[in-house]
Amino acid sequence: MHVLVLGAAAGGGFPQWNCNCRLCHGVRQGTVDARARTQSSIAISSDGEQWLLCNASPDIRAQLAANPELHPRRVPRDSGISGVLLVDGQIDHATGLLSLREGCPFDVWCTPNVHQDLSSGFPLFRMLEHWQGGLTWHPIPVDGTHREASFEIPACPGLTFTAVALTSNAPPYSPRRGAPTPGDNIGLLVEDRRRGTRLFYAPGLGELDDGVRALLTRADCVLVDGTLWHDDELIAAGVGQSRGRDMGHLALAGEGGLLAELDVLPATTRRVLIHINNTNPILDEGSEERATLTRAGIEVAFDGMRLEV
Ligand code: MLT
Ligand code: MN
Ligand code: ZN
Repeated sequence: MHVLVLGAAAGGGFPQWNCNCRLCHGVRQGTVDARARTQSSIAISSDGEQWLLCNASPDIRAQLAANPELHPRRVPRDSGISGVLLVDGQIDHATGLLSLREGCPFDVWCTPNVHQDLSSGFPLFRMLEHWQGGLTWHPIPVDGTHREASFEIPACPGLTFTAVALTSNAPPYSPRRGAPTPGDNIGLLVEDRRRGTRLFYAPGLGELDDGVRALLTRADCVLVDGTLWHDDELIAAGVGQSRGRDMGHLALAGEGGLLAELDVLPATTRRVLIHINNTNPILDEGSEERATLTRAGIEVAFDGMRLEV
């Protein structure tokens, strides 16, 4: 399968418009060795022609312009995007649907929890009904009794998708913020049946349990939550009051951090971090933290990165 990283940053992007932290200031001034990144989104394809958009970022217009694979080619109104899948209902993952309205109707795969949030607190499904019928919902049925669900997507022949309920958090606008239930966040195992290869994608990973570890271990490539280096990084930078664990993002460093989890994966697993917050020192290519990742064989996704799995 082909994977295009459209945006590798967390919500707000890098630099964030109103942020004057060391990294945002430094990348604007050119005094920090770092690349700017747009907000969290990838596209997956089995044939290189039809693409499944996984998360629709507020930066989608620039992301589409930057990726010729997604440009219209066949008929007067057209797109390389043949479907959309949402791993949660967060603003940085769903807002881009508004910018896709000229291309409706779109087939959208998401859980009942996400569909509910996007029909009430942030009613994209209802609003977009007024554009050529809007969004056609395809439920991803993860719940308390069925933590995993496998399904296929017509635009991706030869790929099998398995969604797993993750412990993370519901969006700030959701009635379930602070008390998420299964389906507020999912991780995705994508298997290429012809090649026999697997990708595990989870940009919002709050806690790992043995079920999630088992999927990570089965993957040839993991593309996972690199939001924060330290759990209290926003507080330390003076830009916020939330800890990673409040937001549903397990920090990379420290005991029980994501780096320790990645360390025990098979030596052949390709490890890539995505959804990087603008406060995370790994964005600075010259930082100690970036050197630590390099020594551990961990890559940091960037806009335009292409992965073959
Ligand atoms: C998150 O990943 O926690 C959210 O995107 C944060 C936000 O809404 O900005
Ligand atoms: Mn986010
Ligand atoms: Zn910043």
